[in-house]
Amino acid sequence: MSQREIGVGLLGMGTVGRGVYRILKDNKMIIEKRAGVPITVKKVLVRDTAKNRDIEIPEGLLTTDINDILDDPGIDIVVELLGGIRPALEYSLRALGKNKSLVTANKDMIALHGQELFAAAEIGRRDLFFEGSVAGGIPIIRPLKECLAANRITRVIGIINGTTNYMLTRMSKEGLDFRQALEEAQALGYAEADPSADVEGFDAARKLAIIASIAFNTRIPLDKVYVEGVTRITAEDIAYAANLNYVIKLLGIARENADGVEVRVHPTLLPKNHPLASVNDVFNAIFVTGDAVGDVMFYGRGAGEMSTASAVAADVMNAARNLANNCPGMTGCTCFEEKQIKAMGLTATKYYIRIDVADKPGVLASIAYIFGNNDVSLASVIQHTAGKSAELVLITHEVFEQNLQTALKGIKDLPVVNEVSNVIRVEGV
Ligand code: NAP
Ligand code: HSE
Repeated sequence: MSQREIGVGLLGMGTVGRGVYRILKDNKMIIEKRAGVPITVKKVLVRDTAKNRDIEIPEGLLTTDINDILDDPGIDIVVELLGGIRPALEYSLRALGKNKSLVTANKDMIALHGQELFAAAEIGRRDLFFEGSVAGGIPIIRPLKECLAANRITRVIGIINGTTNYMLTRMSKEGLDFRQALEEAQALGYAEADPSADVEGFDAARKLAIIASIAFNTRIPLDKVYVEGVTRITAEDIAYAANLNYVIKLLGIARENADGVEVRVHPTLLPKNHPLASVNDVFNAIFVTGDAVGDVMFYGRGAGEMSTASAVAADVMNAARNLANNCPGMTGCTCFEEKQIKAMGLTATKYYIRIDVADKPGVLASIAYIFGNNDVSLASVIQHTAGKSAELVLITHEVFEQNLQTALKGIKDLPVVNEVSNVIRVEGV
């Protein structure tokens, strides 16, 4: 094995960049022993070199010029931790073009431009690793690509957004409404100042697109992921779900069967005895089913400085080991098939439906008639009366989404129906 030192250029020293710098410095000896080669951060790209970063930074380490990293032949690995697409994508492609291995935690860039990046990595025969892009410190990319590689994966279900999991936990445990839970998440620094990517489900959709592409060896374009956020979930839904022995979680669900692959992010009623039901607060977890291994679950902190840095630093070590052993670029893109992605209307699941109706004879019969006409079979109906109106809470058997939607259109038009207050999918154990 070559004994040369591996040089690293960090792009960004924000939350994750600082954590990666810390871990590579504080654990230097053990990292060198495990990687088989010394790893040293040579330069760090930032916007503002004068900013206080609460960390000791050697003179000359910071730069605002990307060329100080890309043109340095002593830098073998570029670690992109800027976030967003611009200039992260351009810098990443240029780094790969200069035959440097690339490590990133950027889910937006991988979900939208993974193919382009893999092509560039292949041309230069360099590594492209992105463990930190999904669920922070939880190992999931490498387990899917390596430890579970002998399995045909049939299902990946995950709680992959910490902000919304925190909010739903607070709504469930303390009876907070959506607005209160969001304010709390923002005050604690979990949610972004503009939290729409979290609460509208887009953050989870990007992560699901990445892991589903790996699990099923087919590219999942982001626009093929069905996305519904948690903004319509109310304290009433959480209370009704609890009475029925369910919790509500924002899930990323990817499945493969003979009809194709389905990929969707939406709030879901989950039985209280499902392993994911007890994943609370900002924690993430991913539940994977393989034909040989059965069910396995990965649990931990899905974001944060040191937990995400743990995943990124391990990728750096892997890339360093490969460079030291003259074998980078051995594990390229794993999307070697083109699979059909199911239209949402053709997916089948159970549903929880809450309907505000007039409290008079024949109402339930007229609703049941429309469901029946559309092949929607009901598993349970509970009525809660309040004055002249009543709230019906229904759970269906498994039905096709398109049948359910057609039935709901007819039900909304019934004069006795005040409002279809919410419709939430239900997942089994
Ligand atoms: P952050 O705190 O906003 O840090 C971004 C860093 O990039 C800052 O140091 C900033 O410089 C630098 N930067 C941004 N644009 C730049 C430009 N045009 N030129 C030079 N420097 C630039 O971001 P973060 O939270 O560490 O996230 C980094 C990446 O990790 C993102 O892709 C994110 O999605 C991903 N990730 C984050 C977490 C998490 O918990 N934060 C978890 C998983 C994945 P200045 O410091 O000078 O402003
Ligand atoms: N905003 C994300 C979450 C963290 O709440 O899980 C970064 O992926």
